[in-house]
Amino acid sequence: MKSEEILKKLRDAGDYVSGQELCEHYGVSRTAVWKVIKQLEKDGYVIEAQNNKGYRLVEKDNADVFTRVEIESCLDTSWIGRKLVFHRETGSTNLDAKALAESGEAAGAVVVADMQTAGRGRRGRGWVSPAGKDIYMSLMLRPECRPEKASVLTLVMAVSVQEAVQEAVPQTCSIKWPNDIVVNNKKVCGILTEMSAELDGIHYVVIGAGINVNQEQMADEIQDKATSLYIEGGEVIKRARLAARVLHYFEKNYAVFEQSWDFSGLVDQYNHFLVNRDREVRVLDPKGAYDGIARGINEKGELIVERKSDGQTQLVYAGEVSVRGIYGYV
Ligand code: BTN
Repeated sequence: MKSEEILKKLRDAGDYVSGQELCEHYGVSRTAVWKVIKQLEKDGYVIEAQNNKGYRLVEKDNADVFTRVEIESCLDTSWIGRKLVFHRETGSTNLDAKALAESGEAAGAVVVADMQTAGRGRRGRGWVSPAGKDIYMSLMLRPECRPEKASVLTLVMAVSVQEAVQEAVPQTCSIKWPNDIVVNNKKVCGILTEMSAELDGIHYVVIGAGINVNQEQMADEIQDKATSLYIEGGEVIKRARLAARVLHYFEKNYAVFEQSWDFSGLVDQYNHFLVNRDREVRVLDPKGAYDGIARGINEKGELIVERKSDGQTQLVYAGEVSVRGIYGYV
């Protein structure tokens, strides 16, 4: 008997479920059921117990219980996240997911944490990862495509986070090329993809997403360009459900990616939500920065930019350059 099963049973019932019924259903003793109930209470659930009625889960609208059990009780995927490791605190979920891959874990394994002590961002930067507020999540895959095709997986995660976040907040949620998720022109999610491969084959890919969910105030050093869903929407969001929804959409979008091993099946969806589309951008190319108008991405995930100086179309590859809005972050 798993605690997520009891949780699901109580949730589905929406009313009291007798201890007797739980014992019979799972073939366990009353003490075993009681122990699971106590653990659930420790995790933050409110469960009413009445002598002649049994147990009832009291759902609080603004409770944000973030545990493996809660995420699993919201999960409806068939293979992504079926192996789910949850840490109250860890160094970096990307490193944890890599370790799982190295030890032979199957594709689809997910590591989630409530806090990171060494969160990693792109370009060697860190990722601010306080406890109790955000989602830090890494997914491990073993795609059977050539290594150069795998960079598109970051974009598959970007469209998946966009879809999941859009369900959770009333504001429009967009994508800043290549893989930042933005609400009200500020970043709410960053994605870091890491790969272990040889010339002709991939050992594994780890895609990590950090989502700013319930922070009431962003750290000083990132306040000008980062925000949280709580700051923008004004409501506490249940992280477990949001994490499960990201995985739900990822599984759906990955199935599309797998058909062609490129982004052709998802490019329209991505471009629809691309905040840079038809806007002026500054391309910070190491060979020389230039300004232009971004027109969207192609099926390889390259940004199509019309250069201002000569009207020439440039294809910008994410690994080499970054793009800034002329007037700020987007
Ligand atoms: C970025 O710089 O925009 C990417 C940030 C990625 C952060 C996430 S949090 C979960 C996973 N674990 C990490 O150490 N980094 C990624």
